[in-house]
Amino acid sequence: MSDLKRRTFFKLGLAGAALSIFKPSRAGELLEESTMRVQRSEPIVISTWKHGLEANDEAWKVISSGGAALDAVENGVKVTEADITNRSVGIGGRPDSDGHVTLDACIMDHNSKCGAVACLEGIDHPISVARKVMEETPHVMLVGDGAREFALEKGFNKTKTPLKEVKKDWKDWKKEEKDKLKNPIINHENHDTIGMLALDTNGNLSGSCTTSGWGYKLPGRVGDSPIIGAGLFVDNEIGAACATGMGEAVIRIAGSHTVVELMRQGNSPQKACEIAVERIIEKHDDLMGLQVGFLALDKFGNVGAHSVYYGFNYAAHTEDGNNLIDASFDRNWD
Ligand code: GLY
Repeated sequence: MSDLKRRTFFKLGLAGAALSIFKPSRAGELLEESTMRVQRSEPIVISTWKHGLEANDEAWKVISSGGAALDAVENGVKVTEADITNRSVGIGGRPDSDGHVTLDACIMDHNSKCGAVACLEGIDHPISVARKVMEETPHVMLVGDGAREFALEKGFNKTKTPLKEVKKDWKDWKKEEKDKLKNPIINHENHDTIGMLALDTNGNLSGSCTTSGWGYKLPGRVGDSPIIGAGLFVDNEIGAACATGMGEAVIRIAGSHTVVELMRQGNSPQKACEIAVERIIEKHDDLMGLQVGFLALDKFGNVGAHSVYYGFNYAAHTEDGNNLIDASFDRNWD
């Protein structure tokens, strides 16, 4: 399909989707817009937490020059994965309780193609391995040794983890025998997963999500981040969502998929994130330390973000700049 035809097709598809999303007046407006022969989207990239600012800058280079959202979300989160000062994403991440740093990541494109890796050790860019799984295998997810062997076969570099200073912290943790597994501290100070969503100038959405997971977790534990529908979900007809925080709680409600489906039912990205957070709250008797945040982007570039507790923020890059924005939240920590 030629580029022009593809974009025209996109606009008609968009109008069709809009009819089911919005009230009649808005749908009419969009239908009228759909008669324009070519309409380019305004690009936008959003990502979780303050570390999203740097990641967005890299992603923005791709989408602001007309590149694909998929390339943007891969390149963007690679910045965070490569940041050895980050203790919750990439090779600088905290280890499991046995001292091994195991990384989780997934990626999803506008054709609903997706790839993921979990419990990947000693490879510096899990997000790119996830993309290779998506593009070069018939599978969606590879884990553990299989994921590592696949990465090495594909030419990814080996990296020694944990870093020296991370290992020292882990040894201190072991000595202190703190009850961190029971009371995870996932907040705005230690940050968490990076989830990134982008809309490109062709109106296509993609998303990525990458993490070292819950610090000092049980060996073999996998959170929401590499699970399509939990840590990330993209449906190019509707929108995309990603999650951050305690993965177990996100998995229980298939969080990111839930947010996208709530948008499909006519909720704004903001309302969809709020309903998903409410659902998590309803399903847990004990909310102690249970921070979860959702970030959502619809097909029109509208953004939503909401968390259980105060402290979640996200970075949003549009043509007007790259800004850190506090998400709304359900409750304070005290
Ligand atoms: N959200 C990251 C994790 O729970 O592993």
